[in-house]
Amino acid sequence: MTTPAHPADSTVWTRKHLLGLEDLSAEEIIAILDTAESFAEVSTRSRKKVPALQGRIVFNLFFENSTRTRTSFSLAAKRLSADTQDFSASTSSLSKGESFIDTARNIEAMGADVLVVRHPTPGTPHLLAQHVGCSIINAGDGAHEHPTQALLDLMTIRRAKGRIDGLTVGLLGDISHSRVARSNIHALTKLGAQVILCGPPTLVPRGWERFGCEVAYQLDDVLPRCDVVNVLRIQFERQQLGLFPSVAEYSQFYMMTQERVRLGKSDLLLLAPGPINRGVELTPEVADGVNSAILDQVTNGLAVRMAVLYLLSGRVEPGPRDGRDGRARQ
Ligand code: CP
Repeated sequence: MTTPAHPADSTVWTRKHLLGLEDLSAEEIIAILDTAESFAEVSTRSRKKVPALQGRIVFNLFFENSTRTRTSFSLAAKRLSADTQDFSASTSSLSKGESFIDTARNIEAMGADVLVVRHPTPGTPHLLAQHVGCSIINAGDGAHEHPTQALLDLMTIRRAKGRIDGLTVGLLGDISHSRVARSNIHALTKLGAQVILCGPPTLVPRGWERFGCEVAYQLDDVLPRCDVVNVLRIQFERQQLGLFPSVAEYSQFYMMTQERVRLGKSDLLLLAPGPINRGVELTPEVADGVNSAILDQVTNGLAVRMAVLYLLSGRVEPGPRDGRDGRARQ
């Protein structure tokens, strides 16, 4: 196998966990994207498997529903020859009062090397990293961060446009409740993109210009300047009260339609993290149209998650029964 240079040999990647993109440098983000490009080639082979993580155990701990992230982490680990195990919160002993930390410690005691964690509470992966010795990957913590989603978004942009630096990227819709928006902002601005946050005033947090973003409330005004628009889902499940009059009104002003696509550049790239709500955030014609890279994002997500698992594996130490010190390192 043509394996990327091992992280142990890398001067760029020295982290044990991937908790978010806020703390990563541009060089670290690029190291992940470059490693993902190497792994993308593996997915084109007839035998889509390499031995890089043979003998390692990757646990998926998902406390929120997921289609793309859970399955692609699982598949990524399998393609690296790791053993994988899904943890089902609803059928676990959490219902008998076992704490989240005790649950994680028990899973670690089974020899887990990497815990992939999705949880509705922001900061949960950071908390876990303080209590277990294995590597933690944040697969989405509340409205805080979703680092691998933003990395796959960047990989898709870089593949389509050949660069990130100098592009104008619109993040459209429910910015307030979006962990994807936060991770995208951190990564895109570090890599030199201009980010425009666009949505109804009630769904765009005040003061986010401090992150180096432009804020706009009229989509049609900013669309002509965008090279990329990332269409975010309205997260009704995280909204405590009605933040806009109706879905119909939202769609009138912010749904990506063919007419709006024509307002943009001819090579406008449309992304959406999924799940998508056809007829709310974008029309079916746009979702399936030539400007859409939605399914490319899913494909690239596999390569990104292989890269992250691989890079972190260089920081995994022996398990508790053979000397893991249990100390948390970031
Ligand atoms: N984009 C994303 O995180 O999708 P899932 O919720 O299906 O994992």
